[in-house]
Formats: sequence, C-alpha cells, structure tokens
Amino acid sequence: MRILFTGGSGKAGRHAVAYLRDQGHRVLNVDLKPLDMPGVDSRIIDITNAGQVFDVMASYAGFDEMEPGTGVPRFDAVVHFAAIPRLLLTADSECYRVNTIGTYNILDAAVKFGIRKVIFASSETTYGVCFADGERKPDYLPIDEEHPVVPEDSYAMSKVVNEVTARSFQRRSGFDIYGLRINNVIEPHEYAQNFPDYLANPDLRRRNIFAYIDARDLGQMVQRCLETDGLGYEIFNVSNDDHSVGLTTAELIETYYQGVPAAEMGAHETFYANKKAKALLGFQPEHSWRMYLDRPGMV
Ligand SMILES: NC(=O)c1ccc[n+]([C@@H]2O[C@H](COP(=O)([O-])OP(=O)(O)OC[C@H]3O[C@@H](n4cnc5c(N)ncnc54)[C@H](O)[C@@H]3O)[C@@H](O)[C@H]2O)c1
Repeated sequence: MRILFTGGSGKAGRHAVAYLRDQGHRVLNVDLKPLDMPGVDSRIIDITNAGQVFDVMASYAGFDEMEPGTGVPRFDAVVHFAAIPRLLLTADSECYRVNTIGTYNILDAAVKFGIRKVIFASSETTYGVCFADGERKPDYLPIDEEHPVVPEDSYAMSKVVNEVTARSFQRRSGFDIYGLRINNVIEPHEYAQNFPDYLANPDLRRRNIFAYIDARDLGQMVQRCLETDGLGYEIFNVSNDDHSVGLTTAELIETYYQGVPAAEMGAHETFYANKKAKALLGFQPEHSWRMYLDRPGMV
C-alpha cells in the first residue's frame, strides 16, 4: 500500500514505520522533524496547517513517482501518529490545539481525497487513570473499550475529542477509521533500561494500570488494521498480553485494586484488555519483557 504516515520521526512512529516498510509498503513520513530511515520518504510539514496537510496528501512521495508520467498516485491509507504526546511538554492549551486541530486537518483531507482507510493514535489516557490528579482506580477490570472515558487533563481530552471527530468523519464518508488507544510504548532498548526498576518498584507502573505495548507489536497492530477492511469506525485498546511488573494478577489486585469489580483473569493477564483487537483484527503480540530480561524464575 501507499501510506501517508504522520509523526513517524517520533518514539512510536519510527518503529511502526520500519515495520510497515518491512511489510513492503511505500511509506511517506510527514513530521516537524526529519526521519533518516532507508526506504522511507520523509517530508517536513506542520499538521496544524491545513494547507500543508492538503498539499502533502496530493504530492509525490519521492522523485521516482514522477517517472511514469501518470501524475500523482493516491494514498491507500493514512496512519496518523503526530501529536504532542503527553501533558507537561507544552502549555496545556497548546497540546490541546495541536492534537485536535492537527487531527481534524488529517481526517478532513483524507476523507476529501477519498482515502478509505485511516488509523489514528488515541491513548490509554482517555480512561482517566493515567494523568489523574492523585490516584484514580478503573471502574472495573480489565479495562476494555466500553470503559468510560472521562479524563481530566488537556492531552487526554484532546484524544477523546479526536475520537469524536473521527467518528463524525466516518459517518460522513463510510470509510474505515480505526482509533488505537495505545498503552505505554516500550522500545526494544527500554527492557534492559527500565524494566529492572519496574520489577523492583511496581508502583512505577500504576498509572499505566501495569500494562505496556512493545513498539514493534504496535507496528503489527497498524498492519492488522491496514489488512482488515469494512469495520467502519472502531476503537481498539493496544497492549501486550502480560503485566509490565513481576507480580501476578491476583497480587496486583490485592495490593492496588481492592474493591474494584474484576472479571476472572489469567495469572499474568493484562488489565488493559486487548481481546477486541485479537478477535476483530487477529492481533497477536509477539514481544514480552520476559523474553528480554535475564531473570530466571520471573517467567
Ligand atoms: N509513547 C506512548 O507511550 C504513547 C502512548 C499512547 C499514545 N501515544 C500516541 O502515539 C503517538 C506517537 O507518540 P510518540 O510517543 O511517538 O510521540 P513523539 O513525540 O515521540 O512523536 C510524535 C511526533 O509528532 C511530531 N509532531 C508533533 N507536532 C507536530 C506537528 N504540528 N506537525 C507535524 N508533526 C508533529 C513530532 O515531531 C514527533 O516526531 C501520539 O499520537 C501519542 O499521543 C503514545
């Protein structure tokens, strides 16, 4: 497929872009920052500028596309990751502005250009636990896509608004627009760097309800979304199968979630339910921290 990818120069995006390139897709990355990745084209644009967004969606990805003399090909899909990725990086209002206006522009242009598949990054923070003032517990466990989304910070608010915007564009167009409520993204080098601390101090993972998503598995999730047509508007949690700490499900409930209604769960089953992605898309995470840490007895 010919794919326009926004935010591919960032932490999560660069792994997803590499994954898609390795699947044989033609990827044009658009970002404020360049991406130096073999086999991937990159363009500097600001997604809050509608003119730039419309321009790039109607442009060649690279010089080679000028050779056939048949004009600019159309993108088959848009994957939209560009954003201010959390609170406390910019002014709250700036985070909200960039994320909501940027996403509106991307969806508006994609629908007007007839691009029938759009995948966009939403966030675990929509559920209101991650960036709460103080400790907020989930309404129930595991958190699935039906759990209420009532966050209290501008970043997560922007993601909830983006989901509403996406749903409206899907209704207008009938295209496939899938939103990914991504959990905390872990890059390959972060297992050795961060997980010893997570095992020693599980409190560090409370705001992520102890879940995570490997950046390469996130790439697989995007690929599954590209492969699966006809779902219309859908939201998917994206997480790995297990917790990001060494405690069992029962031990975590005992310590952190007493009184929270909980379903029957496996001994290491994530609190961030990924069953919907598995059932509708065939998503199957492949990378567990247990594969990358030399900790006999922890598996
Ligand atoms: N990293 C996580 O744990 C996590 C978790 C949940 C959701 N997400 C979402 O996934 C996406 C990617 O997150 P990330 O961690 O890779 O963030 P990141 O900051 O590393 O990457 C975001 C990219 O977007 C680009 N960008 C920002 N504003 C832009 C603009 N106005 N125009 C063009 N490009 C712009 C940045 O230059 C950057 O390269 C974001 O939408 C984020 O909200 C991330």
